[in-house]
Amino acid sequence: MSETIRVLLTEEQVDSRIKEIGEQISKDYAGKEIHLVCVLKGGSFFMCELAKRITIPVSFDFMSASSYGSSTKSSGIVKIVKDLDEPLKDKNVIIVEDIVDSGRTLSYLVKMLGDRDPASIKICTLLDKPDRRVTDVKVDYTGFEIPDEFVVGYGLDYDQKYRNLPYIGVVEFN
Ligand code: IMP
Ligand code: MG
Repeated sequence: MSETIRVLLTEEQVDSRIKEIGEQISKDYAGKEIHLVCVLKGGSFFMCELAKRITIPVSFDFMSASSYGSSTKSSGIVKIVKDLDEPLKDKNVIIVEDIVDSGRTLSYLVKMLGDRDPASIKICTLLDKPDRRVTDVKVDYTGFEIPDEFVVGYGLDYDQKYRNLPYIGVVEFN
């Protein structure tokens, strides 16, 4: 089976939306410091671009959770592959994700990280597929709501490929 990629959101659209979110976060947290928690690997491109657009003091940490194998179907099981390096106590945490799909990963992470006593915890995602949600998860900052299609690029992969695309594309299987 081979696949082709159809552009859904151009590089310009993604970059200008990330700039807006960065400005919004800087405004919402004015006078405070924030701690970005990047969910690897997908959230990495988004977090770097977002951090560049935030004008208040920022620190970051990385974790890796997986609910997908190499297929496009959720297994429903969230596994922590790499935990954070730093404690979250008294920090204003923003979890930075590539995409919210079923919501299972984020509802698990919010609960797990919330137990570590942060001052606050919010969720920021580049993409949201609201039609696919099976758990209740409150997303505070969303780049784009997209239809129920499998997307790649800007950190998102299909079978570990296409993360490096500078735009968001839909995978079409031929
Ligand atoms: P959830 O737990 O079902 O919300 O799944 C979230 C994770 O599944 C994301 O962080 C992605 O790693 C992966 N995922 C969900 N939808 C897509 C997609 O369309 N393309 C690539 N990865 C996806
Ligand atoms: Mg992810």
